[in-house]
Amino acid sequence: MNTHSAQLVRVRPELDRLAEYIPGESLEAFSIRTGIPVNQLIKLNSNESPYGPAPQVLKALGDYTTYNNYPDTNSTALREALARYTGVESHYIMVSHGSNELINLLWHIFLSVGDNIICCPPTFSLYTSITTFCGAYVLEVPRAENYELDIEAIVAAITPETKLIVLCSPNNPTGNSVTQEEVLALLDTGRIVMVDEAYVEFSDHPQGLARLVPLYPNLIVTRTFSKWAGLAGLRIGYAIVPEWITTYMKRAQCPFEVNVAGHIAAIETLKHLDYAMDKVRLIVQERERLFQKLTNVPFLDLVPSQGNFIMARIKEEDVRMERVRAAVEAHGILLRYFSHPYLHNFLRVTVGLPEHTDRLIKALAEI
Ligand SMILES: Cc1ncc(COP(=O)(O)O)c(C=O)c1O
Repeated sequence: MNTHSAQLVRVRPELDRLAEYIPGESLEAFSIRTGIPVNQLIKLNSNESPYGPAPQVLKALGDYTTYNNYPDTNSTALREALARYTGVESHYIMVSHGSNELINLLWHIFLSVGDNIICCPPTFSLYTSITTFCGAYVLEVPRAENYELDIEAIVAAITPETKLIVLCSPNNPTGNSVTQEEVLALLDTGRIVMVDEAYVEFSDHPQGLARLVPLYPNLIVTRTFSKWAGLAGLRIGYAIVPEWITTYMKRAQCPFEVNVAGHIAAIETLKHLDYAMDKVRLIVQERERLFQKLTNVPFLDLVPSQGNFIMARIKEEDVRMERVRAAVEAHGILLRYFSHPYLHNFLRVTVGLPEHTDRLIKALAEI
């Protein structure tokens, strides 16, 4: 097709109001931008684990010999292992190529053009982009000043077109969790309530809400191996979903979406769970140490966190975000910076290794 004829075909109109999702910068891109070699960088901008997967995971990936065959599209072995891990029978479990893909799939199952979802900013911005892609709209019910949810306002915001209420727990980037009572109150509305538990393993309630799913036809819980299990690069997530919804997910999901390597890595992680859980304990311990150290940085206001990250407000009267960013980046440290109406002058630090904390604190001390 030449350029002239290509212009005769228009893309779907909702793409004109779709902003590109900008993830945390990669090590490679940061290195090119700053000239600092990749092996000298500290990546604390995407809530990844600083620990790799268990050695048994790496060995199993190397030992496997039939990568020439497609994976089991039903993910039977992995779903059974996940049933043991979550305490929910395997027919409630759907596996996906990262939990982003599950959000994408669920949104496309439920949202028609003109429908809406309710979400509570500041929160994970992908919920909004995928809603727009579906031709649907986001009704924003902002969090209170302490980042708690306003359940009454959520219920009041519901319209006949509201299909989904999405909650992130612990919430990225504020780090606080929803309570079971809050979720139960929203389930009473009859709308689909999706709780994104990408960070639940780092919280005080690591079992999360998965076990409630068989009791409620409108509750969905999504999870991922990206954060606690150190498998972000292999892209593997799962959802615990009422059975009537799994039927539609199976029809709508692309065949063989989860690759063989992802299956192997997730199954081996669950087989050697102590390794990953030890790393979770180290990260939670380090989160507390990082919090204490950051408390002494005079220009930061911290928000307590149940995730593997800590959000902080840069007190503008003291020092501007650009200055903090320049100083931290000069030390080869990648953080996430936010500047939008809900989070003006904020940064988010992923919890890394103890030496990462020490280097960050040293960089901040120079400001
Ligand atoms: C709240 C939340 N949900 C989902 C994801 C996506 O995770 P995955 O790597 O499983 O796609 C992220 C990633 O940062 C996240 O912060």
